[in-house]
Amino acid sequence: MLLGDSCRRRFGSVTLLGGIGDTEGVSQLLVQPNGPLSGQVRVGGAKNSVLKLMAAAILAEGRTVLTNVPEIRDVEIMAEMLEALGLSVARLEDRSLEIVTPPTSQIHPEAPYELVEKMRASIVVLGPLLARCGTAKISLPGGDDFGSRPIDFHLDALSAMGATFETLHGVIEGTVSGGRLRGATMVLPFPSHTTTDNLLMAAALAEGTTVIENAAQEPEVADLAQFLIGMGASIEGVGSGRLVVHGAGSLQAVQHDVIADRVVAATYMIAVGIAGGSIDVIDARPQHMEMLLRKLETMGLEITLLQQGVRASSSGRLKATDIATLPYPGVATDYTPFLVSALAAADGVSFVTENLFSGRFRYVDELRRMGADIRTDGHHLVLRGVEQLSGARVKSHDIRAGAAVVLAGLAADGPTTVDDAGHLERGYFDFSGTLNSLGASVVRSS
Ligand code: EPU
Repeated sequence: MLLGDSCRRRFGSVTLLGGIGDTEGVSQLLVQPNGPLSGQVRVGGAKNSVLKLMAAAILAEGRTVLTNVPEIRDVEIMAEMLEALGLSVARLEDRSLEIVTPPTSQIHPEAPYELVEKMRASIVVLGPLLARCGTAKISLPGGDDFGSRPIDFHLDALSAMGATFETLHGVIEGTVSGGRLRGATMVLPFPSHTTTDNLLMAAALAEGTTVIENAAQEPEVADLAQFLIGMGASIEGVGSGRLVVHGAGSLQAVQHDVIADRVVAATYMIAVGIAGGSIDVIDARPQHMEMLLRKLETMGLEITLLQQGVRASSSGRLKATDIATLPYPGVATDYTPFLVSALAAADGVSFVTENLFSGRFRYVDELRRMGADIRTDGHHLVLRGVEQLSGARVKSHDIRAGAAVVLAGLAADGPTTVDDAGHLERGYFDFSGTLNSLGASVVRSS
């Protein structure tokens, strides 16, 4: 059942988004150390899957229903993006989302700056728009807190499929000669996650066969591929680094259940490593986080696989370890801020290497404010674990960095105030409420 017009209006207007998170820059969290955590937490659908599934709905006229959709701000931003393109989006009861896609002639293939600027993942509308409409305009995303994040892989690969791009006044305009993309064989310079997403969606409606070598293998990419297969696409090699897509003339709108968010699951497991205690993370999929679980065990966390999730338990001080981020199945860059918070108070010296986003260390200065002993050298960190972090006033620079400083505060020697905590709402549903349900003390204020 539809929740009614109020939902639709909410997605349709940037100004009516007060519910989840137009508080970036003003909201604050006060974290008080409150002892070990216990209880259970359920992980919702993956942000980095649902955003692409929503974009993929552009490919097929009709009614798409996504279930297990997290109530996070990025979903709202993507919903606004789809509405700006001419689709309609409404939340249904039981964590579902309905997207109604009109005939091609009623799609308005222009992604506005206000939305692209809020969320870089908006770039994933480029592939489906070019595939469905033969043309697309999208504002160039600016820099962000990870440093420079180019989109050259996206543009080069789509060019190989027959698109041409021109950039004028900060807007990229793509046009497909002949109106329909053509299959091509390509090797990605790096297994880029959203580039692979864009190509999968573009190739699903292209003429002929597309081969993507060195494709990203993240579970969220596989989820998108399964969704496209459900829509009628033919894709071989799902979950591998070589994807072969046979383009279809048209696709059907379908229903699909979003996979669980492994980064959110990791956040709560590492919270236990920091604060101690034992929690059950329901719906966490251990097969999507194997390298991380091994690392956590090396650090002294006890991991038990449950029938429907993972139990994480910790009773003593964590041990130091070395970490290098890599594309999946390696340790994901998105886990690093939480791991660094945990290692900052672990026993011993740890080395952490960030191989994906060289500018992703801004949270390190915040942890230093909390007494962490961390040296940075390019994309490497050397951490000498301290006995206990000290509570301080710190800032959240992005979704994961914000979560990391909150986690650090769980076991500090006094209160920690986290400014700009609105970032967290882009990727976590009720982060403070969830931690409090596990026994933490996190109070939100504006
Ligand atoms: N790269 C380029 N050119 C491109 C695209 C990427 O040089 O055209 C480089 C990047 O600068 C980076 C590397 O390739 O050094 C990998 O970036 P990738 O494209 O894989 O990252 P992404 O697709 O932009 C997604 C997630 C990120 C996650 C990374 C890595 C979404 C919406 N975002 O970003 O998630 O960190 O993959 O797994 O899927 C988050 O959830 O908070 C988040 C940042």
